Amino acid sequence: MERTGTYWQTQEELTYGSMVAWRNNARCIGRINWQMLQVRDMRYLSTAQDIFMAIVEHIRLATNSGKIRSMITIFAPQRPGHPGIRIWNPQIIRYAGYRQANGTIIGDPLHTKLTEVLYKLGWRGAQGGAFDLLPIVIQMPNRPPELFELPRDCVLEVALSHPDFSWFIELGIKWHALPVISNMRLEIGGISYTAAPFNGWYMGTEIGARNLGDINRYNLLPLIAKMMGLDTRSDRTLWKDRALVELNRAVLHSFALAGVTIIDHHTAARQFIHHEKREQQAGRKLYADWSWIVPPMSGSTTPVFHIPYENRQVTPNFFYQDDPWLEQRFLSSYPTKE
Ligand code: ARG
Repeated sequence: MERTGTYWQTQEELTYGSMVAWRNNARCIGRINWQMLQVRDMRYLSTAQDIFMAIVEHIRLATNSGKIRSMITIFAPQRPGHPGIRIWNPQIIRYAGYRQANGTIIGDPLHTKLTEVLYKLGWRGAQGGAFDLLPIVIQMPNRPPELFELPRDCVLEVALSHPDFSWFIELGIKWHALPVISNMRLEIGGISYTAAPFNGWYMGTEIGARNLGDINRYNLLPLIAKMMGLDTRSDRTLWKDRALVELNRAVLHSFALAGVTIIDHHTAARQFIHHEKREQQAGRKLYADWSWIVPPMSGSTTPVFHIPYENRQVTPNFFYQDDPWLEQRFLSSYPTKE
């Protein structure tokens, strides 16, 4: 500590610290599984190329042909007074968003900014489709960012069909099986791991309610309501609610059909209540961010809706960090429109 201002953690500290960071994260409803996290120590990798290969391996191991494993891959920690390693993508597997000349967006509107930045970094792999995989951007400390294209065959995706509506599959909607968050900082014992991608498995509503349903995401409710023949002229027909339920049934149905792990929001909420009891028995206080724990549909039908939670951020934990392209030296090269 005196010589370098930092210290190198043991594998045990890294492994247990990661689990506790998950357990401490107030926004996650799936924390009952905190002890099932598989921790990969990749701190010794020193090039963007090697880090990229470890990420591809993470995708393969965590996807596990659909039987999703919760996993984190930890790259070298940030050195005091230096920038850390950064993965620019908010998640490892994400879809491009293309802003059209007429103002409409093809793909995921959440990623229009990253898609533009990638273009300026020289990415020419854009297909212009609704579900184009973004390349991975890895930036080593004090180095320019480097781009890597994911091998298609490592990314498992699920085509959406509906248990009752045969027309649903024709809509051509799909989603990726694995949510790997890659832009958060893991803090354990005062050490910051700025590149430590981690994943669990999806809860259906993340895809069916938010990613595909939100007005500022894929905004599919009007289309689905129209296909269902609902009267969309008045909010009071509850056409949005009805379309939302069917979209979410399609997500759960399709993932199950494809043999990909997914949990519905009722089961997840029930497990969370069980987790709360277990934590109490262990003599620990459970902190939670109510607005994130309550599912984005049918909230009051789940038990968590009826419980007030205290929200506190304790460490170890996962923290947000600024988007790297907003850093001064990059800002000058990309005139921002917003
Ligand atoms: N909500 C994010 C998404 O839809 C994923 C967040 C993490 N989710 C999880 N089940 N581990 O992509």
